[in-house]
Amino acid sequence: MSANYTSRKRHLIAGNWKMNGMLQEAEQFVHDLAENPAPDHIEVALMPPFTLLHPMAELLSEKDVRLGAQSVYCELKGAFTGSISPLMLRDAGCHYVIIGHSERRDIMGEANELISKKLNVAWNNGLEPILCVGEHLEERQDGETNSVLRQQLSVLEDAAQGVALTLAYEPVWAIGTGLTATPAQVTETHAFIHEELSRLGHDCRVLYGGSVKPDNAAELMACPGVEGALVGGASLQADSFSNIVQAAASVAGA
Ligand code: PGA
Repeated sequence: MSANYTSRKRHLIAGNWKMNGMLQEAEQFVHDLAENPAPDHIEVALMPPFTLLHPMAELLSEKDVRLGAQSVYCELKGAFTGSISPLMLRDAGCHYVIIGHSERRDIMGEANELISKKLNVAWNNGLEPILCVGEHLEERQDGETNSVLRQQLSVLEDAAQGVALTLAYEPVWAIGTGLTATPAQVTETHAFIHEELSRLGHDCRVLYGGSVKPDNAAELMACPGVEGALVGGASLQADSFSNIVQAAASVAGA
């Protein structure tokens, strides 16, 4: 089984709930989200914690919202206590899996070698990775943003062309801090990422992530080379998440 989804909407708004969300909250969220459906030209996805994947798949079964996981282990089954297999994610109804999020790189120590294995296991088992890349503040201040991104993107060097892939540019200093990159920084960095992707033979959409909120979403989504958002904090409430979806839809065109 290989993931190769070519026909799909280009713009995606994905909600990463991180380590948040109880069953009752998920039920309420899905109920509230349904009051404000996404316009047809925008894809919407949610990445709740593992414990909510099966119930969320059920809750979303009649809705046009894709399900994703926040992480995956690089083996299919066996003695890996506490880990989640790509087969389990498929079984739970996931389409996406986030790989390389800065919280996993920085807190759990995940590096390129493991990230490459996770990408391969995702592709080989029908999951579409959302690969996150982004620089720390000191790296940006030292003029190292592009070299950091190039090094993080090097995990794609051996990936087959045409594999299902979404990229997310998330400056680490903008995640959960209320700071966002300026439109000029976003435009410049997305241009660099698209350039690197095409050098590596991949034409995929690139999301922006890092304190995306209803009041800045339209401005960020209007930057050239931005085709959606990976939203953390503001995805926990259905109304703010919906407002981001609507803002993105207004600038993405039909
Ligand atoms: P944030 O998180 O929107 O809370 O900054 C984004 C992310 O980590 O994907």
